[in-house]
Amino acid sequence: MNNFIYKNPTKIIFGKGQIEQINTELPKDARILMVYGGGSIKRNGVYEQVIRAVGNRKLIEFPNVPANPEYDHLIEAVKIIREEKLNYILAIGGGSVIDGTKFISAAAKYDGEDPWQIVCGTAPIKKAIPFGTVLTIPATGSEMNAGAVISRRALKEKRPFDSPLVYPQFSVLDPQVMITLPTRQIANGIVDATMHVLEQYMTYPVGGHLQDRFAEGIMKTLIEEGPKVMANPANYEAAASLMWSCTLALNGLIAQGVPTDWGVHAIGHEFTAIFGIDHARTLAIVAPRYYEYLLQEKREKLVQYANRVWNISSGNDDERALQGIQKLENFCQSLGINTHLSDYTEEYEGTAEEIEKRFIERKWSGIGERAQVTPEDVKKIVLKTYK
Ligand code: NZQ
Ligand code: ZN
Repeated sequence: MNNFIYKNPTKIIFGKGQIEQINTELPKDARILMVYGGGSIKRNGVYEQVIRAVGNRKLIEFPNVPANPEYDHLIEAVKIIREEKLNYILAIGGGSVIDGTKFISAAAKYDGEDPWQIVCGTAPIKKAIPFGTVLTIPATGSEMNAGAVISRRALKEKRPFDSPLVYPQFSVLDPQVMITLPTRQIANGIVDATMHVLEQYMTYPVGGHLQDRFAEGIMKTLIEEGPKVMANPANYEAAASLMWSCTLALNGLIAQGVPTDWGVHAIGHEFTAIFGIDHARTLAIVAPRYYEYLLQEKREKLVQYANRVWNISSGNDDERALQGIQKLENFCQSLGINTHLSDYTEEYEGTAEEIEKRFIERKWSGIGERAQVTPEDVKKIVLKTYK
């Protein structure tokens, strides 16, 4: 196992009726910006619960953060924070709202010229406004990690950034909020979390036996409990397991001491930037082709995954690995998620070349756990995702 240092400062408050705990977590003198999305929180009672818990602290609302949070919109929140001298942010929503909040939190304390530099990683984050979250959709793990992904449609860009300064102070996880989730969003969450586990697992063995078992356990739980939530989001037992699995899939725990490969996400983000495809769906398009392409490098873990997650024990190693990849693709499809780019757009020709160009421009000369996947490899992988 590789050396590691691990610290995750986010306090998790999990379970039924826990939103009222916000009152205890918020500083008494908090002057709050409340960030949320398109209004789902007004249909499931979350909004009222938050307002009640905040009590008579000063609160300004910042609604309408879109899926794939938009830079030009978030910048407006930064102005409000400065004008109103706010000192705390509450993010009420999913990955988009929480990621948007992370950007607002850092940008409000940034004194440089161009806050986009924060997203590009060219301006270090030195300070950030503290924030807490109420999670409304299990998927990204943003509620317990220090990463965010911000889109800028004018540039057709979608870029990740991270900083230990943007861990949430606390996150409330009440699985009952999932009752209003559309099936499509539940499916997205299940697949996104599955891919998060795979990105931290599907590399090569380094003796991280516990990390492997954690990862396999999370994947098996997602596979078993996810479809139950799709069938009935009011199934509290299944919803609780799904929500906690999604958080643990990307709170840093399973990545400690082992190599990781965020290549599927790096390519998937380009599909969202170019075509606006839902994040999880881009991963379902990329992952099967990515793992087939890298079968030699990832063979040992692919075989272990096929065996331990899908009980595949017949055939030689390559056949087992391929069966495991097929199971992953079937699982996505069983949740109603298509796995080819042509299922989402007719204008897929030229995508591979465009993504190769972007990777070269950004000097992303090698992704993958050994930086072995060149922009040309990326082009070849994307070509295979078309049909
Ligand atoms: O905007 P509202 O009306 O709230 O509707 C949202 C939105 O349309 C809806 N929704 C959320 N909770 C609901 C609900 N509808 C009914 N009932 C509820 N309880 O769901 C829709 C999608 O929400 P969104 O926040 O976009 O989903 P998700 O959590 O999947 O977040 C996706 C974003 O997170 C990024 C993605 O790239 C994407 O931008 N990611 C963030 C990561 C991180 N910070 O670590 C890692 C991920 O890999 C990912 O890249
Ligand atoms: Zn993801």
